[in-house]
Formats: sequence, structure tokens, C-alpha cells
Amino acid sequence: KIKGLIFDLDGVLVFTDKFHYQAWKTMADELGVYFDETINHRLRGVSRMDSLEIILERYEGPDLSLREKEKLAEKKNEIYRTLLESMTPDDVTKEVRDTLTKLREKGYKLAIGSSSKNAKFILEKVELKDAFDAISDGNNITKSKPDPEVFLKAAEYLGLPPKACMVVEDAEAGIKAAKKGGMYAAGIGEAAKSINADESLKTFSELLDIVDK
Ligand code: BG6
Ligand code: MG
Repeated sequence: KIKGLIFDLDGVLVFTDKFHYQAWKTMADELGVYFDETINHRLRGVSRMDSLEIILERYEGPDLSLREKEKLAEKKNEIYRTLLESMTPDDVTKEVRDTLTKLREKGYKLAIGSSSKNAKFILEKVELKDAFDAISDGNNITKSKPDPEVFLKAAEYLGLPPKACMVVEDAEAGIKAAKKGGMYAAGIGEAAKSINADESLKTFSELLDIVDK
């Protein structure tokens, strides 16, 4: 029986893809590396440094040291944070807000399970922090999705066994992480067509129908 829900943030509750893309694109252009929307797609759910490595597959310049790579990731993050500053509570739909409220009223525990180190900042900008009982994000993990660590931590913070948790994800890496962690996985958006997901959501509010099943 499901007792808790763990939500991915980017691509499920808020749509920050365009900001990630813009920020990586600026960094890549400066470095002279080809980068486009298709490559950006592969960065969904992947940590900042792992994302950088994917972008650097196209890099043909002299070898970069770890420090240089960290500088590039920092530069991207500075641009990204500036873009995030424009976010407001209007960036969360009424459907998402109402569904979260109703799930809580039904007694479900809610957590965030995000690879992002900016998760808390984003939740504050959109005023959604209080909707959750626990936040597991890029700051409390060492391995990023498809490793289940971020979700296992979220379950632990909620005080629930993994099998009592349902993960809601838009990325294949996240669906895989949920299944590896022994959780129930619901795919939405891109991941709605994932063959690894247990449930496929056409809309966010459908969650209200499937959790009690
Ligand atoms: C995930 C995004 O939520 O967070 C990825 O889907 C991103 O695209 C990752 O790379 C890490 O984010 P941040 O904010 O720590 O750079
Ligand atoms: Mg996502």
C-alpha cells in the first residue's frame, strides 16, 4: 500500500528545462562546443557534473583538469541561478498545487526527490516548500539518478519503506532509479511512455485516482 509520494522537481512540478538549456548553451558557446536541444534532452535528471561530461563529449580542445571542469559547471550554475530569479508562484499550475494539497489531506506523506542542488531555491521562489514533509536533493547524495540514492533518502526522511512509496518522474533515469530502489514508479510527460514505469500519467491530477488503487 502506498503511503508516500516522492516527486521529481524539474519537469514534474516546475519546468526549468529551458533555463538549463539556455545556461548550458551560453557556457558551451563560450567554450566553442556544439550543443543543441537534442543533447539537452540527455541531461534530464542527470547531475550537474555528469551533464557537463555529456556536453564535453563534443569538446575537441586541450584536456581539461577537474578544476577547469568545476569552473565551467560553476559558470553554468551562475547563469542558471540568474534565470531562476525570474520564477514566481505562477510557475506552478493550479492543478499541481491542488493535487498536492488533496494528497496531503488524504494522509499521504510527500517528498521531493531531485538531483538538483538548486531544488530548495526553486521551491522557495515558487512558494511550494511547505507542501512537502521532506526534501531529498542534489546536496544529500553522492550518486545521481539512475542510482536510487536520492529516492531512498527521501523515503528514509519520510520514515517509510521504499515499497510504500510512489515516485513521480518525467525522466527515464528517474524511473530506473525508482525501480532499482524498490519503489512504485509513475511516469509523466516524457516518461509517460516509459516501458519501465508502473503507471503512466496523462495529467498530474490523475495521481489522485491511482494512489488509492
Ligand atoms: C535535475 C535536472 O533535476 O537536476 C537536470 O533534470 C540537472 O537537468 C540536475 O542537471 C542538477 O541540477 P543543478 O541545479 O544541481 O545543477
Ligand atoms: Mg525531471
